Amino acid sequence: MFRLSHPTSHSDSATSTVERLESEVRGYCRLFPSVFKSASGSILTTAEGRPLIDFFCGAGSLNYGHNPPAVKQALVEYISQDGIQHSLDMMTEAKTRFLETFERTILQPRSMDYKIQFTGPTGTNAVEAALKLAKQHRERSHVVAFTNAYHGHSLGSLSVTGNQSYHSEYYGSHNNVSFLPYDGYLGEFDTSILLEKMLSDRSSGMPLPAAVVLETIQGEGGIHVASDEWLQRIQTLCRQHDVLLIIDDIQVGNGRTGEFFSFEKAGLTPDMVCLSKSIGGGLPLSLLLIRPECDVWQPGQHTGTFRGNNLAFVAAEAVLNQWNDASFISGIQDRSETLRMHLSSIVLENSEENWELRGRGMIWGLDVRSGELARKVIDLAFQTGLLLEASGSEDEVLKFMPALNIPEHLLLQGLNLFRDSLNAVLLKPAASKPALVPTKETRNASQGSSMVRS
Ligand SMILES: Cc1ncc(COP(=O)(O)O)c(C=O)c1O
Repeated sequence: MFRLSHPTSHSDSATSTVERLESEVRGYCRLFPSVFKSASGSILTTAEGRPLIDFFCGAGSLNYGHNPPAVKQALVEYISQDGIQHSLDMMTEAKTRFLETFERTILQPRSMDYKIQFTGPTGTNAVEAALKLAKQHRERSHVVAFTNAYHGHSLGSLSVTGNQSYHSEYYGSHNNVSFLPYDGYLGEFDTSILLEKMLSDRSSGMPLPAAVVLETIQGEGGIHVASDEWLQRIQTLCRQHDVLLIIDDIQVGNGRTGEFFSFEKAGLTPDMVCLSKSIGGGLPLSLLLIRPECDVWQPGQHTGTFRGNNLAFVAAEAVLNQWNDASFISGIQDRSETLRMHLSSIVLENSEENWELRGRGMIWGLDVRSGELARKVIDLAFQTGLLLEASGSEDEVLKFMPALNIPEHLLLQGLNLFRDSLNAVLLKPAASKPALVPTKETRNASQGSSMVRS
């Protein structure tokens, strides 16, 4: 997540228009100071015709790439037939088809029994809905969140977001939340023990919470990956203490980890799941999955004008159908391995640095321990044709999040651009040849290395 305000020099009229008219709150246009004109698959093109390989993916909203052909075709057909665009939460054919497709391709194959709530079309609104519903269902006002958590910027979701730079004492956004250490926050110490103690000790000072909310991999917080065992222990504690478990799968759901939901590997059965970003196939759409017994909403209790974006339903249906295709799923696994191996080899080449590589599937973070270094690499990569960003409390973790279907040659090309940018910033000689083909040594090293966490 880009936060720092860095001076940028813009000369053309489009950027001066933005600088003149758009609020100072703008962020990413400062990090990537070009005017973008078009995008297809994993390539973005600037107004001057400069192509960039996209390892950023709209912060996880473009898991299927830019303008996937199936989405384009479905949207053009839908609009040309005057399909319903806006309908609040009235019944439309597009909504029914989305619901049936989601049930058939995602829920049923996983034996998941959930009701689906369409919230406002941002991730943060799905989190707001989850927090409100959990509090109402359990008739308690407190919740537990974790260090380095990121859940959004409206006041409820901000209250469960860790990073101080988003908070202001005037927001009053720290009410009714206890932050406990996430897995790995205290090194090898099993932090679920703290949750157990806080929940079971009547003198811990923590009110019994309505819910525990967590990401299985913290995306904005710096790509911290919770172990399956830790996640299972948290779920068990929630069940033992009658506390709801909310998984925020907004960034690492939608196939990012290789499975559709990030918690499948750990075998969790959350009470609620927040989904957004790529669920709409690139268009705004957010939803909350609710275990039927938790669906205690009264009609209209969490409402909003833009719930259930029909164009996004159409786009979502087009991308969800790919989850029926075994080769789509195995392709994600192949690319995940390529990404892991190549980033591992970069860590190995720089073993004198105290770096750490963390991630799983198609989301990886290279913690270079310095926001300044990460920013220099991002800037140079951007100049040479690669879009990537950083996350972590000081933006010190370079974040790799290409599209799930990025062609192998673009993945390798992007990794080579990254490696060259890194070497140039570190004043290391450029590679004489593209060396990013894993060898037996890098494979073994990455598997055994304490610097690589997955
Ligand atoms: C895990 C997680 N939750 C919630 C959000 C908030 O989503 P939005 O920016 O759409 O409000 C994000 C955004 O990055 C996220 O990564």
